[in-house]
Amino acid sequence: MVLAKATDHNYHEATKHSVVSVQIDPNYVDASTQPQSFKTYPHFFRRFPLEPTHPTHQFLALTSAITYQKHYREGTHLLRVQPSAGALYPTELYVQVRGISGMLDGIYHLEPETNSLTLIYELIDDGIEAYFTDAGNDIRLVKGCILLVSCVYFRSSWKYRNRSLRYCFLDSGHHLGAIEASAYASGYDYQLLFDVDWPALNEDFGFETKEFFTAAMVVGEVKARATKKPVRRLRSPIPTVSGTDYFEPNRFIEVGYQATLRAQASADSAVPLQPRLLQQPTFPVQPAQWQEAIQQRRSARRFYPTAISQKSFLAVCDALHQPLPGALKTLEIYAVLHRVDEQSSGLYRTIDDKTLHCLKTGEFHTQTGHLCINQAIARDCAAIFFITSACHNYRVSLQQAGVVGHRIYLAATALGLGCSGIGAFYDDEVQAFLGTDQPVLYAIAVGQTTRPDLIT
Ligand SMILES: Cc1cc2nc3c(=O)[nH]c(=O)nc-3n(C[C@H](O)[C@H](O)[C@H](O)COP(=O)(O)O)c2cc1C
Repeated sequence: MVLAKATDHNYHEATKHSVVSVQIDPNYVDASTQPQSFKTYPHFFRRFPLEPTHPTHQFLALTSAITYQKHYREGTHLLRVQPSAGALYPTELYVQVRGISGMLDGIYHLEPETNSLTLIYELIDDGIEAYFTDAGNDIRLVKGCILLVSCVYFRSSWKYRNRSLRYCFLDSGHHLGAIEASAYASGYDYQLLFDVDWPALNEDFGFETKEFFTAAMVVGEVKARATKKPVRRLRSPIPTVSGTDYFEPNRFIEVGYQATLRAQASADSAVPLQPRLLQQPTFPVQPAQWQEAIQQRRSARRFYPTAISQKSFLAVCDALHQPLPGALKTLEIYAVLHRVDEQSSGLYRTIDDKTLHCLKTGEFHTQTGHLCINQAIARDCAAIFFITSACHNYRVSLQQAGVVGHRIYLAATALGLGCSGIGAFYDDEVQAFLGTDQPVLYAIAVGQTTRPDLIT
């Protein structure tokens, strides 16, 4: 069997679910001990409410907004534009703003709970550009936004322990997907960067080991500095503020993240910085409708086991196969079709938007239900995607899987279908079912959530 890179494979291997592992450790936690899921900088930092009339504010608000409230006995859950394993939301968003009218040049922390930006650092001759690793970036400036996604891992490891390494990266990918979606809705080009000097940035942001950066997205124009003097790294560190009210270290997660800094990420993002020259994704609906889908997106909690149209299914495939500006996609995407009009049920590999390569025909819904730890959504959906990768870099591959998963969610929502990410599955059994040597990173189910008699 071909294994993924040794370091990555170890972290994947060590967090596999099997029938026995799930019985031994069913992941029960005392909900009253859940750590905080919002990071708040102290009151003395200046805050700026995100105004609906300012285009950049609107773009930023939609990358992380709270779009739904669920009330439980233990309290209210604030659900956001991006899905998150267990609704634990380990990710945070920081944004460097430069040269945008009506905004101070600086680094801001985005607070979804108050829909505002906290100014945590003012720029002079320094900036995030200085941490980019491709040659020449330090004499270029980004006029616009550089968004940085980080992960406060204890929010997720509190419940999912070591397996949360995967969920932290998948959730980061969904957050990137949410930024991508908001950029598309606003008509902005973007570029992904996975290979930044993260250790230096983690230190300069005062993260200690509790929080770490996973990826950056550039939404703006890249310009040469007039003075030709390099942009400096941050003049002084940003104060340490914990993203949770209490903290329990998890060495597995910390070392697992560190390993991804050593493994080459640049193979997956080896293009010069220039969003405008990169092929951008186009989605199956116009930007205004995509914006509606962003607002409406939710995870389906059940599906009616009825068919979806072939047209809708292919539109979802079209969305997921769109280019990833700045990154080489290293994913393989399988689809198990249970109920898609004009398509034989069976296991397929999706090659691009229109090509489905049938690997085996048959009715596999009972089997996929079992493979996803007996979750009914995996049985009753119309189709379920499984994403695998050779994992040149575990962090990068999982984040790419998250971005693709996010596209599936939004395309399904825009087409009136339901969707749910599925991170819990029996790893080796799924791999054997797909007949692949590659680790299985993520599953996403799509199906009918409208009562069959109400479908028009
Ligand atoms: C990485 C990931 C893994 C998930 N795994 C599961 C799962 O195994 N089963 C499930 O029912 N939902 C799963 N979900 C969906 C989350 O439970 C859901 O996103 C969260 O409750 C927030 O709700 P919302 O998506 O409606 O905003 C997953 C989501 C993500 C992003």
